Amino acid sequence: MLVDLAERKAVHDAFDSFWCVRAFDEVDSTNTRIKEMIAQGAPEGTCFVARRQTSAYGRQGRTWSSPDGGLYFSFILDPLGAHVSAGKTYIDLPALSLLLSLSVQSVLSALTGSDMIRIKWPNDILVVEDGQAAKLCGISLEATNQKLCCGIGINITRPETPTENTLAYLGDLVTESIDPDELLMQLLTYVAVLYQEWLRSGIAPLIPPYESHLYNKGERVTLDFLTGETFYTGKVIGVSLTGELILETESGERIQANSGEVHTRH
Ligand code: BTN
Repeated sequence: MLVDLAERKAVHDAFDSFWCVRAFDEVDSTNTRIKEMIAQGAPEGTCFVARRQTSAYGRQGRTWSSPDGGLYFSFILDPLGAHVSAGKTYIDLPALSLLLSLSVQSVLSALTGSDMIRIKWPNDILVVEDGQAAKLCGISLEATNQKLCCGIGINITRPETPTENTLAYLGDLVTESIDPDELLMQLLTYVAVLYQEWLRSGIAPLIPPYESHLYNKGERVTLDFLTGETFYTGKVIGVSLTGELILETESGERIQANSGEVHTRH
């Protein structure tokens, strides 16, 4: 019992030394609010969570539906900041996409005990069942004023009115109810652990676990430019140390694709 309490205190202390979390019932977008905080000079670890968002957005200008019953939060990372002496540069930043998706995948898999939770490069979290994939969580990363605004949205409770069947809900994977506050704490704890590991040792140790959960690894996919034209078709091999997707074309050539330029079509 004593050990349990001591361990719990150590976890809380580690959490409090990195994170400063503020909760809202409703905001336009936790990303928008966090970017304002960055402009005002807020430090790494500042995190906003909201029960609902009225103007949430995803990558490539998509909207992100944020009704009650989900977990929506954004936070600041500042790996290039003067307080961090890890020698990171802009070239290292895309790897953080991998780090965040691996953190979320690991926590959600442990919570649900499900082996159906996969990562779609670079950072969507899917539930894949009987060959059908549905999106459980979206992650965005935006660089602003030399800091990063990281946004995470997780679908928890399936709304009573039917939504697109391309969405998955965490609540459908477990029998007991999910406490969003506890889930947030677990996610932030794990993000901070992997982030410190990345600052110390780089992304290389995180690539094997990321690839082991990679959706469609070993399968043929098409990469399209964000403008719509096809870039390449090939077999998914894995990801590079700079966060690019590695494909092998039919002629055996290996190409690397940047998430700022292409997305995958399955
Ligand atoms: C995507 O899949 O395109 C990324 C979705 C990111 C959604 C989250 S929800 C919390 C944060 N606030 C936003 O406006 N967006 C992110």
